Amino acid sequence: MKPRVLSGVQPSGNLHIGNYLGALKSWVKIQRDYESIFCIVDLHAITVYQNPAELRAKILEVAALFLAAGIDPESSSIVAQSAVHGHAELAWLLTCVTPVGWLQRMTQYKAKSEAQETIGDGLLQYPVLMAADILIYQANVVPVGEDQKQHLELTRDIAQRFNSLYGETFVMPETYLPTVGARVMGLDDPEKKMSKSETGAGHAIGLLEPPSVIRKKIMRATTDSNPGVDFENLGAGVRNLLSIFQAFSAWSDDQVRTHFTGMRYGDLKKTVADMVVASLEPLQKRYAEITADPGYIDRILQEGRDRVSPIANATVNTVKQRMGLYTRS
Ligand code: TYM
Repeated sequence: MKPRVLSGVQPSGNLHIGNYLGALKSWVKIQRDYESIFCIVDLHAITVYQNPAELRAKILEVAALFLAAGIDPESSSIVAQSAVHGHAELAWLLTCVTPVGWLQRMTQYKAKSEAQETIGDGLLQYPVLMAADILIYQANVVPVGEDQKQHLELTRDIAQRFNSLYGETFVMPETYLPTVGARVMGLDDPEKKMSKSETGAGHAIGLLEPPSVIRKKIMRATTDSNPGVDFENLGAGVRNLLSIFQAFSAWSDDQVRTHFTGMRYGDLKKTVADMVVASLEPLQKRYAEITADPGYIDRILQEGRDRVSPIANATVNTVKQRMGLYTRS
């Protein structure tokens, strides 16, 4: 039996090259070595208010982007989180073994709650639901960007605590990070992670943006006052552009260093823009083809749900039994 991989993306905002390089690209690379499950985590998205009609459309868009990026629906399951009831149910069961202090320490919770007037309880519970997503499938590996590392550590802590209270139940999941592109920074502010919720016009490169917009954003990216690329003295903006290039091109460190040493920033930006545009072109083309059939994504999501639901139900049932809950149906 193949080991299992699980990961997810929130259908909130537009997916950007950070999501692609940090997560989707790894999924495509490893999908055939694992039994793969990729979730559109809509229950996570509603931890902050989402317009219902926009959310519904976004779920389908994200599923289509998974396919356009290269996820093969024959070998991998693409699932809308809310379609598999066990995620929410297991999240409650895990909430009951999770100390609230663990949740209050999460850096994403702190950052997101500072930006809200009223903090929904869901925002605090967010990482428990994420733990449920992973543990419900007994996933061995979770490919994510660097910002999710802390949530993965918490997932292991929750699993360990459950196992020690109720007996060995959960597999310990490993975090899988890409070597380059695990943390893509904003083009307008290279000190900040590129983020879907950031709305600044020059901040992120959306996966579906036209080449002219992508080029303009990269040409305007924040750099520094050095005349050209100096690897002994790389500013955050230049470092970010170089790692975007390297992640898309899969060049080695040596190749990147040799090619870009001394290059003026204008030429660097043009080279990076060419690489990003050329890399996204096939994805955008496939996206257009996939979405031309309006019923296709629905069918993929139903297939995915039907394939993974038995695994999820079995885990929830075991957990309920271990905890002494009433399980006779
Ligand atoms: P989300 O939707 O914010 O991001 C989806 C994936 O993209 C990665 N990512 C980045 N990688 C590199 N650079 C960036 N600037 C960047 N921004 C985002 C994220 O690390 C993530 O892998 N909590 C998760 C969704 C989730 C999940 C799960 C993930 C819910 N349940 C179970 C894995 C397993 C999130 O908000 O991702």
